[in-house]
Amino acid sequence: MATYIVLLGPPGVGKGTQAEILAKQTGLAHISSGDLFRESIKNQTELGKLAQSYMHKGELVPDDVTIAMVKDRIFRPDCKLGAILDGFPRTPVQADAIRAMLNEVGEDINVVPFITAPDEILIERLSGRWTCRANGHIYHSVNNPPKKEGICDIDGSELYQRDDDKVETVKKRLRVYMEQTSPLIACYRDRGLLVEIKGDQAIFKVTEDLIAALKKS
Ligand code: AP5
Ligand code: MG
Repeated sequence: MATYIVLLGPPGVGKGTQAEILAKQTGLAHISSGDLFRESIKNQTELGKLAQSYMHKGELVPDDVTIAMVKDRIFRPDCKLGAILDGFPRTPVQADAIRAMLNEVGEDINVVPFITAPDEILIERLSGRWTCRANGHIYHSVNNPPKKEGICDIDGSELYQRDDDKVETVKKRLRVYMEQTSPLIACYRDRGLLVEIKGDQAIFKVTEDLIAALKKS
């Protein structure tokens, strides 16, 4: 049996930061739908062009293309032990799709850590976030700065600020989260999969709470 973890929570709460750490510690693959879209944008594919037209407005990319993209990723060889899903599912249709995808191969989601923090913290985090151009490694100008300004510690590539981290777009993303993604909280709670994690703690402390939740699942 493989292990599938869905990291649920609003923009900026630390899903990507924690998924990167957990993937290293557990050997599970880190699948970030946002990173997959940003990769397609960088490569100027048709999917990238379509995704960009939604992402820069802070809106969700349509379910059909998002589901197809994840389906193409989740059964690759590096996902043999399972995966940490970061930013997917984000709508009830996507949640049904991932369940069906996994059930078809006799698997299911094992646990859904739901990470929370107040909106003002999310906005502060996103306005100070710097992302690595090559591989999406995540920094914060104050909370988690790189050793050398503007350069990724891990691969030496340039750090940039995401186009959708402008305050107005962040506010839109938070509204979209409330309207389209937050209904998943009740669904996963009803299925007994949800574990609430306080995201407004130091990064290492959030990781400890996540590891404890995974052990119990
Ligand atoms: P996506 O890339 O998934 O963005 P998001 O969900 O809005 O989440 P973020 O990546 O902004 O935040 P995060 O929780 O990963 O936080 P992070 O670890 O970086 O999606 C972008 C867009 O793509 C969407 O708007 C949509 O258009 C499209 N898309 C993606 N998936 C989709 C889907 N399934 N369906 C449809 N469309 C989709 O941390 C944030 C900052 O805080 C960093 O600077 C970090 O260093 C810092 N930080 C993290 N943890 C802490 C801590 N504990 N203490 C202090 N600072 C911290
Ligand atoms: Mg992220």
